[in-house]
Amino acid sequence: MDDRSAVPLLIRALRREPVERTPIWIMRQAGRYLPEYREVRREADFLTLCRTPDLSAKVALDAVAALDVDAAILFSDILIPLQAMGMQVAFPESGPRIDNPVRCARDVAALRIPDPEDDLGFVAAAVRTLRQELAPDKAVLGFAGAPFTAASYMVEGRSSRDFLLLKSLLLQEPMTFHRLLEKVAEATIACVLGQVDAGAEAIQLFDSWAGCLAPDDYEEFALRHARTVFAALRDRGVPSILFASGAAGFLECMARSGADCIAVDWRVDLGEAWRRIGHDRAIQGNLDPIVLFGPPPAIARRARAILDAAQGRPGHVFNLGHGIHKDTPVDHARALIAAVKNAAAR
Ligand code: CP3
Repeated sequence: MDDRSAVPLLIRALRREPVERTPIWIMRQAGRYLPEYREVRREADFLTLCRTPDLSAKVALDAVAALDVDAAILFSDILIPLQAMGMQVAFPESGPRIDNPVRCARDVAALRIPDPEDDLGFVAAAVRTLRQELAPDKAVLGFAGAPFTAASYMVEGRSSRDFLLLKSLLLQEPMTFHRLLEKVAEATIACVLGQVDAGAEAIQLFDSWAGCLAPDDYEEFALRHARTVFAALRDRGVPSILFASGAAGFLECMARSGADCIAVDWRVDLGEAWRRIGHDRAIQGNLDPIVLFGPPPAIARRARAILDAAQGRPGHVFNLGHGIHKDTPVDHARALIAAVKNAAAR
């Protein structure tokens, strides 16, 4: 096979094919820790960046150039499709905010299902540019929020410590909450299939807030609706990743999501997590992002411990256990990537 027709390393790993080395990419790899990103942001606010395909593609490609990771992730946000559903989304310094949160059945009924070309054409255009500009051995990753986390933002309207509004709706009006999740799942399917049609070769769903749930509630309110989205991706033959943070209480459940790969954080040992998930699934993870604030030899040591826990089984994708911190020294991120790549030569 020549280079052009080669399947990217990350995609082969997600299919659990034996690979020459463990692929690596970093959640939130295009962001404020990179000087190239801060440069672009001086000229454009975050929403403009997301809605302008050339700028979105540029910051995603800048991150790949700075780190030499094995994938470019679409530069967008999990709240962008919510905007297309009718939510008023803003991104002030203090963190994202929704000014017309969903609080009752009437609010749910008013939500629209976005059309991938008419409402999210700028996303498709960014993905197309990414695939054109990126080296063929590197993968283009699309993403969306998992239905539960997306719906959580819609109800709470901002980040939350105790999820009081969300859990109150779940407890008081479970059918309304399910209806909301069904609609978000439908919108998410439109959104990720739009990315696939534009050239995304794998899709990750971020269930960043699912860790607030008891295992039974995770199964009923998060897993059920994530499954709908993964089933649609399976029909297209596109490999999928499900990420949740704080998921040690329900890993077995996540393994039943239909995702090809489960992404875990650092609060669980990778070897143990993989046994619980089952070796018939790929696994992604799981270095604590704050380890990148330690000295490079310590970063390399901890990276090696994770590779050792994976025991060279096919299907491990190296990543952090959550998004990279905005104050991370770029050199330390590079040291991690070098350590993971060089480990293959041992
Ligand atoms: O390289 C990439 O991964 C960029 C694409 C990307 C962004 N957000 C860009 C972004 C992705 C995959 C996301 C996912 C996302 N967004 C998640 C899931 C991942 C996670 O961290 O759990 C969540 C919960 C959000 C919601 C969100 N968007 C928050 C909480 C914030 C503010 C806090 C923060 O960490 O920056 C955003 C804004 C945001 N999204 C920025 C970026 C680069 C910073 C915007 C800026 O330039 O000021």
